[in-house]
Amino acid sequence: MAEKAQIGVTGLAVMGRNLARNLARHGHVVAVHNRTPHRTRELVEEYGHEGTFLPAQSAEEFVASLERPRRIVIMVQAGPATDAVIDELTPLLNPGDLIVDGGNAHFADTRRREEALRKRWLHFVGAGISGGEEGALHGPAIMPGGAPEAYESLGPLLEGIAAQVDGEPCCTHVGPDGAGHFVKMVHNGIEYADMQLIAEAYDLLRRADGLAPAEIGAVFRGWNDGRLGSYLIEITAEVLGHVDAATGEPFVDVVQDRAGQKGTGRWTVQSALDLGVPVTGIAEAVFARSLSGDAELRAAAAGLPGPLGTGRRASGSLVADVEQALYASKIVAYAQGFHQMQAASAEYGWKIDPGAMARIWRGGCIIRARFLDRIRAAYAGAPELPSLLVDDYFLEAVRGAQESWRRVVATAAELGIPVPGFASALAYYDGLRAPRLPAALIQAQRDFFGAHTYRRVDRDGSFHVAWGGDR
Ligand code: ATR
Repeated sequence: MAEKAQIGVTGLAVMGRNLARNLARHGHVVAVHNRTPHRTRELVEEYGHEGTFLPAQSAEEFVASLERPRRIVIMVQAGPATDAVIDELTPLLNPGDLIVDGGNAHFADTRRREEALRKRWLHFVGAGISGGEEGALHGPAIMPGGAPEAYESLGPLLEGIAAQVDGEPCCTHVGPDGAGHFVKMVHNGIEYADMQLIAEAYDLLRRADGLAPAEIGAVFRGWNDGRLGSYLIEITAEVLGHVDAATGEPFVDVVQDRAGQKGTGRWTVQSALDLGVPVTGIAEAVFARSLSGDAELRAAAAGLPGPLGTGRRASGSLVADVEQALYASKIVAYAQGFHQMQAASAEYGWKIDPGAMARIWRGGCIIRARFLDRIRAAYAGAPELPSLLVDDYFLEAVRGAQESWRRVVATAAELGIPVPGFASALAYYDGLRAPRLPAALIQAQRDFFGAHTYRRVDRDGSFHVAWGGDR
């Protein structure tokens, strides 16, 4: 009898090819398939020596080459392509077989697909995979959702190819149906916030402190050895030290200042609006990218009055203050993202373990960072923690940072340097801790114009004032 594969990968563009290679390098026999067969051929020709691949020309051949229950990973574009592949495969499968979608699907699509396949006795696992092409090859962070039985069959395989930190895999069962893709979406949203905050720190050091990109790169390299240590800080240091070969200018100066986006940040904010969870850090990051990309509007507004930074500040360097502001704002962004995961978990009955998410994000993925160990510890001690900000460690960190944080936001405002991430994080923090919010006035206004009623601080019940008599 011909050898059968333990797992199959269909969709052999960059991510799919590297994931298939990662599986093969770990000793698994991997069936490989792609809509257009040249990618399959190229994979086997170039990387066949890395392990055992069973190339298939057709979906039928692909499915027939897999041991049962079959495990198939789909790595194609999110959206209609994913549905097309699922529709092609499902008639060929048997009850108990398992399809994994390793793309960046919207969690609502994953919920729909999981339900449809469950009715056909098939397992559908929406798995978030983070780490880009390098991660897919050398060990990504993997966030699989779906039924627990599906994870029993799939878990050991995925945990084996995931990044490992302190002997623990960066992969765990996240929760039922769309939970895995939801968590991946929030991961990306946090990534947007993280990148925005880092960009603001750079902008301040450049425009308020007068430091050159390479000098700021050196500052970031120093920060990377401390509590801010993370992949994004590390690559930022490298980018800022990079010189454009063609012009000899700092590389960052030859790049157009318009940030692109593929949509997962926007999805995170859309979901947060539905859940009623303020994720201001992520939202500001998405909007900052949109603002940067609106060239026409920016050109029209370019003459608006106001300061544009000062060059070198007279009163000493901002570096230490900006480090504090960055750390505090980062804590807020993560607190908001974790709040969103907890709210979605309650809404959809997912039972997501927030500490486990911090654990699996410590390696492989783009937001891997030293301080995720702190988040993990916070939830280990108190799984129902209402906010990371009330955990002892983070509370103390923000207490220590806040004077600097306020100074940085005030300085930025005075100098006309936009810091939507730092400023909104501070506003969120101050909003949370305020003994009394002006929401009382808003309720009164609502009662005035719409008879929406109000609640009193001293009595139960709903009340209404007959504003203006019988106007
Ligand atoms: P990556 O980001 O990894 O480069 P992607 O753009 O997300 O990849 O997905 C591209 C993959 O989706 C390719 O394998 C593509 O197949 P082709 O090589 O034949 O173009 C696959 N793909 C896209 N639409 C598809 C469809 N309708 N059916 C099957 N596969 C499809």
